[in-house]
Parts: sequence; C-alpha cells; structure tokens
Amino acid sequence: MSVSVVILAAGLGTRMKSNLAKVLHRAGGACLLEHVIRSARTIAEAGRITAVIGHQADAVRQEVSPSGVQFQVQTEQKGTGHALRVCAGLPGLDQGRVVVLYGDCPLLSPATLQRLIAAHEAGGQSATVITTNLDNPTGYGRILRDADGNVRAIVEEKAATAEEKRVSEINSGIYCFEAADLWPHLARVEPNPASGEIYLTDLVELLRASGKATVPLVIEDPSEILGINTRVELAEVDRLFRNRKVRELMLSGVTIERPETVTIDHGVEIGQDTIIGSFAQLLGSTKIASQCTIGAMSILENAQIGEGCSVFPYSSIQDSTLGAGAHVGPYARLRMGAVVEEGAHVGNFVELKKTRLGAASKSMHLAYLGDSTIGSKVNIGAGTITCNYDGQKKSPTLIGDGAFVGSNSTLVAPVEIGPGSYVAAGSVITKAVPEDALGIGRGRQENKEGWAKARREKKKG
Ligand code: UD1
Ligand code: CA
Repeated sequence: MSVSVVILAAGLGTRMKSNLAKVLHRAGGACLLEHVIRSARTIAEAGRITAVIGHQADAVRQEVSPSGVQFQVQTEQKGTGHALRVCAGLPGLDQGRVVVLYGDCPLLSPATLQRLIAAHEAGGQSATVITTNLDNPTGYGRILRDADGNVRAIVEEKAATAEEKRVSEINSGIYCFEAADLWPHLARVEPNPASGEIYLTDLVELLRASGKATVPLVIEDPSEILGINTRVELAEVDRLFRNRKVRELMLSGVTIERPETVTIDHGVEIGQDTIIGSFAQLLGSTKIASQCTIGAMSILENAQIGEGCSVFPYSSIQDSTLGAGAHVGPYARLRMGAVVEEGAHVGNFVELKKTRLGAASKSMHLAYLGDSTIGSKVNIGAGTITCNYDGQKKSPTLIGDGAFVGSNSTLVAPVEIGPGSYVAAGSVITKAVPEDALGIGRGRQENKEGWAKARREKKKG
C-alpha cells in the first residue's frame, strides 16, 4: 500500500527565542528540516512528501526546494492537528498510509521509520505512534495506555495531572495513520479549551471512540526522537549528529585525532587512511581523497582534495581544489575557485583567490595571488603581490611555465610574465616580461662611501 509523508514545519518555535523559523536552524551541517526530508525520502519519493510550512514560508521553501518535496502553507499556526488538516483532500494523501513527522525532530533514522511502517502493517490498526521512555519526560506529551496496552490518550505537559506527569512514556509526535480513518476523525478534533489550538494528539481519543486502535511502538534509543525546542537541545542534537558522522568515518578507515573536537558535516566524504587533525572543520560538500593529512584547526568548506595531499595546520580552504600530492599551509588561505595543481606547494600566509597554481609550482611564503593563472614549475618568491584590483575592476595576471618571480615583487595587473622569464626581487612590474627575459623594475642602489662614519664624527663635534 502507498505511503505518503507529511512533515509539520510551520511553527516559529517560540522557545528558540529567534527571528529564524525553528526548522531553519542548523545542526550537523544542515537545517533541521533537511534532515527530516532526508529520512522521509527513504520511505517515500519526493512527490509524496508534503512539508507544511507557515512561519517564514518563503525562506523555508527556498532552503529545501532542491529536495523536490511539495509544500502546503498553514497561514496561522493553530496547532499540530490544524497543521495536518491543511493537507486534507490533497491528491495521494487520501489513500494508503500517511506518516506524520515533525520538522524539529531531525535525528530519526531511516531504520526506525521502516520499523514504524512494518509495525503498522503487521498490526492492522488505525494509527501507530512512536514512543519512548525518558528519565526526564518534562515538556513532552505523555502516553496513557488502556488495559490492552493500546494508547488511550496523549496528555500534554500543561494539561497533565501530577500523576500523569510521572508517566515516563512520551509521544514522539511521529505517527503512521490509515488515511481512510485519519481524515474524517481529524476533521472532528475540537480546539483545546485552554490554548484554542487543535492538537493532533486529541485524535487518539476520537479514534478510540469509534473503536479504532492507536498502537504504540516503543523505541529504545530516545535520542532519535529528540524534538528541538531550545538552543540547548539544538546544541545537543548537533553533537549527536557530529558523533554519528565521525564514528561512521572512523569505521570506514579514516583516522580522526581527538574526534570529540572536530566538526564534520554530514555530506563530507573522506577516503581511507586520511588523517584528520584535532579541531579541524570539514564543511559542506568537501571531498577528501585517501592518504591525505588535514592539519589541526584547518577549515575546509566545499573543498576538493586529491590523493596524498597535506594541508598543514590553520589553513582555510573554501570552494577550492587541490590536485594529488599538493601541500598547503600552515596558515594558507584558498578561496573562490582556487586550484592548486598536482604536486604544487602553497606555504604560510599565502592567499590564492580565483587563481590556478600549476603543477609542481611553489609559493611558499607571504603572497597574495588573485585572478591569476600560473603555469607549472613556477617559483613565486616571498612577498609577491598581484595588484589585481584598481578600485573599479579586477584584472588578470598570467605567469608562464618555469618563470621565477623574485621576492617582494609587485605585479600590476593586467600583466603577463613570459615562460622561463625572471622577475628581479623587489620589482614593480607594470608591463609584460617576454619569454626568457629578466624584468627589473626598481630604484637603483647607490652607496655613499664613508657617509655613516662622517655623520657620527660630526655629531661628536
Ligand atoms: C508535540 C506534541 C507532544 C509531543 C512533542 C514531541 C502535540 C499537541 N504535542 O508537542 O505530544 O510529545 O510534540 O516533540 O502535538 N507545527 C506546525 N503548526 C502548528 C504547530 C506546530 O506546523 O500550528 C509544527 C512545528 O513546526 C513543529 C511540530 O509541529 O515542527 C511540533 O510542534 P511543537 O509546537 O514543537 O509541539 P510540542 O509542544 O513540542
Ligand atoms: Ca517540539
């Protein structure tokens, strides 16, 4: 039978104390809703997943639209039951099974979702709800069972009596419903007298009154259904995501020093026998091949690192690529599509912006190379600066294969340094240096014999 998914994600999340919609807050390198969609995709195609959005609907839609899910807008947030109601009558949702997920519950694993559907199918009941037992159930809806062990009612924290508050079994907010039973009963849920909201949890009693059962599926790992309400919980969920990721990587053959200190986003890929230093941050779509070393405190975002590369500590690499065997850092900065080709070396305090450094070329100390195309086996001396910006526009610098740029050279772009040529140290280069030539652009030195001594003697008087 078909499975559709509705993800409730319209709430502001008052307890986050934020201007940002709760489901847009990030943990583990993605926003909360993206994680939920990723899990949902393992039981339904994107076309059968509907996200109910409301608070900052446009921003939420924009953030997750690449996933291909459908959206339904709940203009006023009048409770979880009301949120599901805005999906009533949508094509596809009126038959088969409807799984309800919460956008603020991102740790749910695909395996648990599959268990939910399997338990629902095997039992043949109207509704199945995931529950768990918590040492501290404060804040969650409590599960009240009947004599058969089915759910009699779900009572919210606010409405619970002292005795009900002692119940440790809580409602995860994750359900599987028979569509045929869900919609007619949901339409009859009355607003909560205290809050005026329509609670999805009240559906249980209505189903029961029609002789239809809600069966609990108790799961052992409560962390999977942690609903995020505050930033404290957000940090906790982030930590759990990070732990999951480093564990996965270590089991696949990656060495991670002091794994509790690193930050690795869920989409990052790392090859075997690569070593990740402590406090490294590997973010976004970063891919690191095998046999690499990523030094302590380095931050890589959307970086592509070839086999056998060394990134020494404190380097920052963004949207950039390293060819096999390249060395970068310590304290290097690569950004905006920088490419360091095979075997090239970039040393300390060197910045590359929109620049290609050719195979086996070196820029070892203190340089800014922007909008440049640099050939192979080029040596860039310490302190070389490309003057790529005149205050209005950016201009390119071209440096041919085998060129040698002396220390402290200023290359005023647009300019071309020919293959095999030399630039004398300390030059300001404003016009092309031809192939195999020497370019010198600096004041000549003059020595005045005896000048210093004469000055000293004059002072003595
Ligand atoms: C809800 C459950 C509670 C359960 C807990 C699990 C109800 C009444 N209570 O409480 O039993 O233990 O989740 O985490 O269902 N939402 C909307 N529109 C709304 C209201 C909420 O889309 O009008 C969405 C929110 O964006 C959120 C989810 O529904 O993703 C849950 O809402 P929230 O207000 O956090 O519910 P809880 O009070 O935590
Ligand atoms: Ca919640």
